[in-house]
Amino acid sequence: MLTEALKTEMLAVARAARAAAYAPYSKYFVGAALLGEDGRIFGGCNVENAAFPEGVCAEAGALSAMVLAGVRKAQAVLVVGAGSHLITPCGGCRQKLREFAQPDSFQVLAVNEDGQEQQWTLAELLPHSFGPEHFS
Ligand code: THU
Repeated sequence: MLTEALKTEMLAVARAARAAAYAPYSKYFVGAALLGEDGRIFGGCNVENAAFPEGVCAEAGALSAMVLAGVRKAQAVLVVGAGSHLITPCGGCRQKLREFAQPDSFQVLAVNEDGQEQQWTLAELLPHSFGPEHFS
């Protein structure tokens, strides 16, 4: 369970990351805060590219920061986007998160600028997923 204090901290990291987002093409700025198993929070923002498919999502950036810091398990991600349609991680990012998550317990929180929020487990967003265990 994420405490309110932790959520507040993750929201601050995600908002700061969103402020740094590079999204000149979609103008859809995204920030993510990934909670590692050790309690550290890693931020990421989307980084688009003139060659559109080469852009990367905020969640992917946060995952890279976590792995670079030597952390290999995550507990939760909070994603901040704009508009009344609450953002949810794209299909590719759900799978990327899956690599470092326990699907039944990993929490995905979506928040918009107005502070509306919704929460799911990764298993709800990516049911019957394929993961590292399939190789053992
Ligand atoms: N995007 C993210 O960074 N995370 C998501 O969860 C959904 C979409 C980005 C990708 C692209 O830069 C922009 O939002 C519009 O799709």
